[in-house]
Amino acid sequence: MLLRQFRQEDVDAYADMVGDPVINEFFRDGPMSREQAWRHMAMHSGLWNLMGYGRWAVQLKATGEFIGRIGLWHPPEYPEIELGWVVQQRHWGKGYATEGGRAALHAGFDTLGVSHIISLIVPGNQRSVRVAEKLGGRYEGRIPMFGEEVLVYGYEGPRP
Ligand SMILES: CC(C)(COP(=O)(O)OP(=O)(O)OC[C@H]1O[C@@H](n2cnc3c(N)ncnc32)[C@H](O)[C@@H]1OP(=O)(O)O)[C@@H](O)C(=O)NCCC(=O)NCCS
Repeated sequence: MLLRQFRQEDVDAYADMVGDPVINEFFRDGPMSREQAWRHMAMHSGLWNLMGYGRWAVQLKATGEFIGRIGLWHPPEYPEIELGWVVQQRHWGKGYATEGGRAALHAGFDTLGVSHIISLIVPGNQRSVRVAEKLGGRYEGRIPMFGEEVLVYGYEGPRP
């Protein structure tokens, strides 16, 4: 896979992904309309200017297909830098979230120089919990977030 910046031409595939009700089962801000999707993509793109890091667009090298959004961000209300992932439903179960998550952890530990990164996961999102576990994430408890409790998985760095 290629992890890269978002591009204007990703908007159709991005809208398709964030408009999918199944993808959005555990997100409070979706499913999104195409208009919302463009703004959301622009927000993730702009984070790189604000913070120097952000979520990547995920593209399959073999076909050029846009298949997801993976990476780090730190909204003000989050306690630490967070690693998150979304993969187009037709590509679930192929290890893409885990592969991209691993790359993001290396970027956080080696390039940004942080020693701890978290994933915040809505209870019941077992697929996401499984990805966090595969990346060596340890359950660190629950914190209140947006009126509900979310699970905190933590990753320790740096890594070999
Ligand atoms: C979570 C998500 C990104 C995972 O993407 P993915 O590319 O399929 O992830 P991977 O293939 O790397 O790993 C998925 C793991 O979950 C497991 N899994 C799948 N369904 C599961 C379930 N219902 N319960 C437990 N584990 C499950 C898979 O078997 C796999 O583990 P394995 O390699 O040990 O077999 C994807 O499901 C997604 O986009 N979900 C919607 C968005 C979302 O919820 N994002 C996370 C917000 S915190």
